[in-house]
Amino acid sequence: MAEQSAKRSSFGGKLTAILAAAGSAIGLGNIWRFPYITSENGGGAFILIYLGCILLLGLPLLVAEFAVGHNSKSNPVDAFSKIRKGWGWLGAAGLISVTLIMGYYFVISGWTVNYAVASATNSIGSDYGGFFNNFTTAVWSPLLFTYAFILANHFIIMGGVQGGIEKASKYMMPLLFAILIALAIYSVWMPAGREALGNIFTPDFSKVSGKTFLDAMGQAFFTLSIGMGAMLIYGSYFKKGTKLAGTAISVVSLDTIVALTAAVIIFSAGVEDANGPQLAFVAMPKVFSAMPAGNIWAMLFFLLLGLAALSSTISMHEAVTSYFVEKRGMSRKRGAWLVTIVAMTLATVASLSLGVWSGATVAGMNIFTLLDNFTAIIMLPLLGIMTALFVGWLWKRESMKAELTAEGGVDKATYPFIRFLLRWVCPILVSVVFIFGLVDFISNL
Ligand code: TRP
Repeated sequence: MAEQSAKRSSFGGKLTAILAAAGSAIGLGNIWRFPYITSENGGGAFILIYLGCILLLGLPLLVAEFAVGHNSKSNPVDAFSKIRKGWGWLGAAGLISVTLIMGYYFVISGWTVNYAVASATNSIGSDYGGFFNNFTTAVWSPLLFTYAFILANHFIIMGGVQGGIEKASKYMMPLLFAILIALAIYSVWMPAGREALGNIFTPDFSKVSGKTFLDAMGQAFFTLSIGMGAMLIYGSYFKKGTKLAGTAISVVSLDTIVALTAAVIIFSAGVEDANGPQLAFVAMPKVFSAMPAGNIWAMLFFLLLGLAALSSTISMHEAVTSYFVEKRGMSRKRGAWLVTIVAMTLATVASLSLGVWSGATVAGMNIFTLLDNFTAIIMLPLLGIMTALFVGWLWKRESMKAELTAEGGVDKATYPFIRFLLRWVCPILVSVVFIFGLVDFISNL
């Protein structure tokens, strides 16, 4: 055991640690999910509630998760049980949930590649909704793009912590920021865009219900990759002495800036008519087609989505792989293949559930939607509550404090605040929102 932890890899430095964690956070959640959830919930009012959830719940939980990983230097299952015997199941529940997320997340990731290619070659045509429906309900083409994406992910994981994950983040994140900025400048430059923006950022409280809070909280947890071992495993790769709260603040800031910028890009395109999960895929190609060199911009947009997705999926994959390697004694190669094959199997089911298997439903939802809703509405809040209770109440106080303040050296001002949020605010607020939101959700099924 001692030998194993001595060999354990870590990220090279502060910046790469932030980039890797920001890579996990910034994903489809920011660019694909945030804009459509925002538009479904009435825009500005939702954004305010969302920002509240990010600050009061997301930030402390992210610090908590980093701390559990960093303190134990372990995979998610061992991490919890090292800090407190008998709690490994909390890590296991996270890994099962993140595996379910991979099931549908990889499918959408595959779409982004197809759309990038189709935009570059100008082959989307002019029936945007039709293209989306034909493509996503087909059998083979979405599967092939999804498998290709999973394999790209696989080989990054095989490269290891520094050679794979860190290197990929170091190149992908700056590229992602550059594309995002270019698209943002381009979209606010259009007058129609500025008008549409005004509409979406104006709060409309009439659309706020219990479900709005649940959506905001679920989105906050999802976008910060909370409670499922992804951030925990990255925390375990942070070097000794890393300021956890400081790192979390950087990650949360970057993530929020990207989500808001993505919303600006999408809403400034004036796409109120198209909503739901299709927003990015149906509305954006249409908008770009009306612009000079539109197909290049469209390609850039989907490339952005794909890059963001990839840096997120590697964190999901790594969390589960680390478990098979450290806990089950597999080689990295074997562990990674196992996760890849499970992900491919689930993704196959999720993809087919939009087309040939769309008849198989639970409570009116196909498998794809079920995976999304079950993880975002049920598992994320439950794991969030448990993580907060674990770190706030069950972890030995001195040990937790040493971790959160990097041995007393730093983050002293944030510590009491974070501890209070974890002990009281997170468990209570998340429980209330969870119960009311769930009742609202079920009554609307
Ligand atoms: N945060 C990513 C996004 O916004 C998704 C993600 C990555 C995730 N790892 C996770 C979500 C772990 C939940 C749990 O797209």
